[in-house]
Amino acid sequence: MLSRLAARRSGGDPGRRASWRSRLLLAYPAGVSTDSSTRTTPDGDGGARRPGAPALTVRPATEADWPALWPIVEAVVREGETYTYPIDLTSEAARELWLERPPGATVLAEAGGEVLGTAKMGPNRPGNGAHVGTASFMVAPQARGRGVARALGEHVVAWHRERGYRGIQFNAVVETNAAAVHLWRSLGFRTVGIVPGAFRSPSHGYVGLRVMYLDLVGEQS
Ligand SMILES: CC(C)(COP(=O)(O)OP(=O)(O)OC[C@H]1O[C@@H](n2cnc3c(N)ncnc32)[C@H](O)[C@@H]1OP(=O)(O)O)[C@@H](O)C(=O)NCCC(=O)NCCS
Repeated sequence: MLSRLAARRSGGDPGRRASWRSRLLLAYPAGVSTDSSTRTTPDGDGGARRPGAPALTVRPATEADWPALWPIVEAVVREGETYTYPIDLTSEAARELWLERPPGATVLAEAGGEVLGTAKMGPNRPGNGAHVGTASFMVAPQARGRGVARALGEHVVAWHRERGYRGIQFNAVVETNAAAVHLWRSLGFRTVGIVPGAFRSPSHGYVGLRVMYLDLVGEQS
């Protein structure tokens, strides 16, 4: 299980992580409703945020944020367990791939001035497929298991809804990525199918790639 392994590798104390996580979850409760361009922990609103808890903010990422984003992207790419990016991807090539241009968008999640995670989103296909969106997510290994991806995922769903997308398709969720599969399911995504053996995992060998879909308009004919 990647998130816990990563947390273990980062040497964090589990108890400390748990309390940090619950503070962050309190700080960023599910269903916070704001404009999807920027989401910030509400302040002093009847106990939604515990005093002293770091506020988690999701905001658009710019070129100027790349130095803070690259270590997060680099860790995920070099591990090679969750995406099909070339394992030796350079910072320059990754910046081109990760920082979306309109109609797409790239966001980051930060708390206490520290960038913890990032997501990119936009049309899954051009032309007559552009009404279905897609997204990708990466969270810093030391920040996993604290609700950062959930906050990014909620932001991504809201972003698509606000722009009238009819659905969101995740094209390639690695079968062994249990945290991601759990998280996307909990946000309402269902597995449309699994392409067997489509991903060569460095530690698990050939594993399936899930296509996961969230319908934003109800059953479509
Ligand atoms: C997948 C990833 C984005 C999750 O980020 P995160 O910030 O740790 O995720 P969150 O803390 O918001 O949520 C993780 C959820 O998975 C659950 N989870 C963690 N490990 C799990 C496991 N082995 N089995 C089932 N659920 C698991 C957590 O309990 C949590 O669910 P909960 O909120 O219901 O308790 C992060 O691990 C990452 O960046 N991985 C590398 C890149 C990647 O896989 N991107 C997604 C590709 S589809």
